[in-house]
Amino acid sequence: MEQSPTAPPNTHNDIGLRFMLLGLGALAASLLFGVLGAFKFLYPEFIEGLAFNKLRPLHVSLAISWIFLTAIGGIYYYLPHIPSLSAFSTRVARWHFWIYLVTGLAILAAYALGRFGGREYWEFPPLLALPIFATWIMFGTNYFRIARQRRTAWPVYYWMWGTGIVFFFLTFTESYLWLIPYFRENMLREIAVQWKSYGSLVGSWNMLVYGTALYLMERISGDEGVARSKMAFGLYFLGLFNLMFGWAHHTYPVPFAAWVRDFAYLVSMTELFLLGKIIWDWRASLTALQKFQHRRPYRFLFASDMWVFANLVLALVISVPALNLFTHGTHVIVAHTMGTTIGINTMILLASVFYVLEQRIGQDVEIRHARPLNAGFWLANGSLLVFLAALLAAGLIKGTYDGGSFQEMMESIEPFLLVFAVAGVGLMIGFWLLLIPAMGHMSGLVFARRYDRIGARQAGERAAGD
Ligand code: HEM
Repeated sequence: MEQSPTAPPNTHNDIGLRFMLLGLGALAASLLFGVLGAFKFLYPEFIEGLAFNKLRPLHVSLAISWIFLTAIGGIYYYLPHIPSLSAFSTRVARWHFWIYLVTGLAILAAYALGRFGGREYWEFPPLLALPIFATWIMFGTNYFRIARQRRTAWPVYYWMWGTGIVFFFLTFTESYLWLIPYFRENMLREIAVQWKSYGSLVGSWNMLVYGTALYLMERISGDEGVARSKMAFGLYFLGLFNLMFGWAHHTYPVPFAAWVRDFAYLVSMTELFLLGKIIWDWRASLTALQKFQHRRPYRFLFASDMWVFANLVLALVISVPALNLFTHGTHVIVAHTMGTTIGINTMILLASVFYVLEQRIGQDVEIRHARPLNAGFWLANGSLLVFLAALLAAGLIKGTYDGGSFQEMMESIEPFLLVFAVAGVGLMIGFWLLLIPAMGHMSGLVFARRYDRIGARQAGERAAGD
C-alpha cells in the first residue's frame, strides 16, 4: 500500500500528486486574496478596481478548494494500487482532475468578472455546480470500487473518507435546494436549510481531513492499532453524529424547536475533543527516532493538536445559545471558521503534503530547505495566534456595542482589524515559505514523471521504427 522513497510511482499516486500540487497553488493564491481583502475592508480606497465583494469569494473559494484538493489528492495517493481496476479508475481520476480544474478556472473568472448568482460560499452562477456534482459522483464511484477490494476489515480512515464523500454529495445538493421555489419563496425556510447544509458540509470535509490525520498517525507510528482503536471509531461515530445533528449550532438565530439547538450544543464539541485526545496519546506513544525521521509531518500534526484545544475553548463559548446571539455574524464567527480551517485542517493537510514528499524524495526537502521551513512554520503559527486574537477582540466589541452609529462602532474596532490585516501578512509569508519548496518538489515529481513517460514513449516509437 505504501511506497518506499525509491519505488517507481504508480498511476493513482500520479493523480494524487497533481491534486496536491493544485491544492498548494490554490492556498498560495487564497492567502494573497485574503490579505488584499483585509486591507480593502479597512481602507475602501485601497487599490481602485479591486472590490471586497470579489476578493472575499475569491479568497474563501480558493481556501476551501485547498482543503478539498489536498484531501482528495491524499486519498488518491494513499489508496492501494489494484491492477485489475487501475486502467478504469485512473481514467476516471484523470477526468475528475481536469473537470475540477476547468470548472475552478470558470468559477474564478466568474468572480473576477463580477458574475455572481449563487448563495454564500457558492456565490458563482449555479450552472457551474453541475460539473462539481459530476466530479463527486466520479470520485465516489472510484473510491468505493477501490476500497471494496480490500480484503481485511476497513481501518477507520476508510470509513471516514467514504462517509465524507457521500455526505459532501448530499449536503452540496441540499445547499442548492433554494433553486426550488418552495424553499426560495420563504426566507426563513431558505436560511434554515442553507445554514444547516453549510454546517453539515464542514462536517463532511472534516471527515476527509481527520481520516487523513489518522492515516498519517498510523504510518508514522507503524502501529495499525491507532486507526482501529475504540477511540478512533468513537471519533468516527461522533463525527457522523455531528454531521447529521451538530449543524444546529449554525442556526441559532433561526426560530425553531429549542430541543434541536440544545441537542446540537450537547454533541457538537465532543468530536474536536476526541480528535485532540487521539493526537495527544499518539504523540506520547512515538519514539524519539520516529519523531526525528518524520519531523516535518510530525510538527504539523503537533501544531494541529494545539489548535484543536484552542478552538475547542472558542467553540464551546460560541455554542452557548445566549452568547451566540451576540457573536453570530461578527468577527468571532470568522475567527472560529478561520481558526479551524487554518489551525486544524491546514496543519493536517500540510502534514500530508510533507509526508508524501518525504515518501518520494526522502530527506531531500529537509536537507535543502530546513531554514525556510522552520521559519515558515513558526511565523505562520505565531501570526495565527495574533490574527485570531485580533478577530476575537473586534467581534466581541461589535457584538456588545450599544453606543451610537455603525460608523462609531467601526471606528472602535478599526485598530483590531489593522492588527488582523498585518498578522495576515505574517501568516501569508509564513505559509509561502512552506508552500514554495513544497510546490517546487511536487511539480518536479508531477512533471518529471510526465517527461519520463514522454521519453519512454519516444524510445518505444523509435524501437518500433527500427
Ligand atoms: C490557510 C489560510 C486561510 C484559510 C484556510 C482561510 C479561510 C477562510 C474562510 C473559510 C473564510 C470564511 C469565513 C466565514 O464566512 O465565516 C475566510 C474569510 C476571510 N479571510 Fe481567510 N483564510 C486563510 C487566511 C487568511 C489570511 C492570511 C487573511 C489575511 C488577512 C485572511 C482574510 C480573510 C478575510 C478578510 C475574510 C472575510 C471576513 C469577513 O467577511 O468578515 N484569511 N477565510
